[in-house]
Amino acid sequence: MEEIKRIAVLTSGGDAPGMNAAIRAVVRSGISHGLEVFGIVRGYDGLIGNEIKRMQSQEVSNILQTGGTILKTARSEEFMTLQGRKKAYDNLISKGINGLIVIGGDGSFAGASRFAGEHNFAVVGIPGTIDNDLYGTDYTIGYDTALNNVVDAVDKIRDTASSHNRIFFVEVMGREAGFIALRSGIATGAEAILIPEVEGQVKQMMKTMTNRGEIKKSSIIIVAEGEREASIWEMADMVRKELPGSDVRVSILGHIQRGGRPTAYDRVSASRMGVAAVDALLNKKNNVMVGLVNNKITLVPLSKTIKLHKEVNRDLLAIVDLLV
Ligand code: F6P
Repeated sequence: MEEIKRIAVLTSGGDAPGMNAAIRAVVRSGISHGLEVFGIVRGYDGLIGNEIKRMQSQEVSNILQTGGTILKTARSEEFMTLQGRKKAYDNLISKGINGLIVIGGDGSFAGASRFAGEHNFAVVGIPGTIDNDLYGTDYTIGYDTALNNVVDAVDKIRDTASSHNRIFFVEVMGREAGFIALRSGIATGAEAILIPEVEGQVKQMMKTMTNRGEIKKSSIIIVAEGEREASIWEMADMVRKELPGSDVRVSILGHIQRGGRPTAYDRVSASRMGVAAVDALLNKKNNVMVGLVNNKITLVPLSKTIKLHKEVNRDLLAIVDLLV
């Protein structure tokens, strides 16, 4: 592959706080290495539509502390097609760009990997999703901020729950994974946590609720949106039936989890990963994702991040029941 002189960066899939810090790191470290850096607007859709602009250092000033993504994002249907990816390739080549950095989740990396294979194009991924569900990294950009958003919201719900002696079922995001639910549940002292990775939790939750006695009048139950055993509404009804006179509420936190200023942890991780992604391209380490494992930067083949499943932390699971 020829020498890398011009690179482009895009954000794809659901936005995540800290994506801007990663964009800034790519732009600034790229320029420091003497590269020309381009930003692609609206993810793969913008790449196909040729929305590609040169980025200078000052364009990424004052974005480190902001949520969302200044490059905008999209979940592209067209990039799933061969023709869409060919258009994307032609647009990059017409600008002399021969390295692409994709900030996103597993869907974005599946597209990136296919694109890289079809066109022998150098691609590096940076994990950016609040779900933390990517194999090959302990943390994804945005996860820590989303967690803190959940903790902040649930602490507030706890105030009203305890004032009214109510039981609250709180649904958190995470797609099919329970990373947000598990950690936020521990951090908020939830009475029960239900995640898709563990079976039999509805029964366990019902047991906890019926055994809680008179001392505990209010409770918080965190439910991952991907929980499959029962819907949050069904669970609320089950508790109402089992505990006559109980006052049960359901709260779906929704997209508020995905917004806001990134935490210091997300800013630093995103900055490290952005710099590492540029280094990977310069060192011809292509078709890899930059990860953070045991707080060290690592590179893992994109194909592995797509195929392999990341497990929830069993040590965390083990302490849940001991803390109720
Ligand atoms: O992947 C991030 C995420 O926020 C998931 O937790 C959630 O299931 C999904 O995106 C929501 O997607 P959308 O914003 O397209 O509704």
